[in-house]
Amino acid sequence: MQVYVYRNEEQVAQAAAMIFAAELAAKPNLVLGLATGTTPIPTYQRLIALNRDGLIDFSQARSYNLDEYVGLEPGHPASYRYFMNVKLFDHINIDKANTHVPSGLGDVKKNADAYDAAIEEAGGIDLQLLGIGHNGHIGFNEPNPRAFIYKTNVVTLTPSTIQANARLFDKEADVPRQAISLGIGGIMNARRVILLATGRGKAQAVRDAVKGDITPLLPASILKAHRNAQFLLDEEAASLL
Ligand code: GLP
Repeated sequence: MQVYVYRNEEQVAQAAAMIFAAELAAKPNLVLGLATGTTPIPTYQRLIALNRDGLIDFSQARSYNLDEYVGLEPGHPASYRYFMNVKLFDHINIDKANTHVPSGLGDVKKNADAYDAAIEEAGGIDLQLLGIGHNGHIGFNEPNPRAFIYKTNVVTLTPSTIQANARLFDKEADVPRQAISLGIGGIMNARRVILLATGRGKAQAVRDAVKGDITPLLPASILKAHRNAQFLLDEEAASLL
């Protein structure tokens, strides 16, 4: 993994957006792996502006999101499908039919297997965008002493993740306790990974991922073993390195 430090989150977003632009220029039908959370929002805003100005074209791009809550309808304002539509897809020239978010409804285990198969069918993820949880999770792959979970799977959220994500719901009790998430294998199979982290709150997780051992207790640490992963950090997120 390579680590790049920028002055602030705007510069992180600028760098990330430029990577998207370069990769899409090289391969217009790029398979994007996309992430939710507060961190990628400035990047998405830049992508929208670049698309509006005709500098980036999503017309042939395909996308697969990392995760979704179990039990939330796509129209629920806290669902990740809703987030992606509102924050990105509604404002760029991507074909919505080419955008995919795992479904947390119905037979979720079956959905998980079908999701992996669909990504494989698409040729695999070319560019995977990631955030990082305060506990070092990527996607919703929570610290888990047993093993890194390879495939897309149903995961039980930790109390700290439920608490961190409660701001997006009316109250903490409304946060689903489970999610469907691309597994560590799905992330590691991406040809390129860019992880964004901004703010002091992410500094410890970033430090552990970059400087610590590779361990399932800090899922982002696995990215040290990825052949083409870059961490784009602002100074606050890099402050413990
Ligand atoms: C959620 C998402 C992750 C995201 C993390 C951090 O748990 N499942 O994909 O990286 O939150 O979110 P934020 O960027 O809001 O700190």
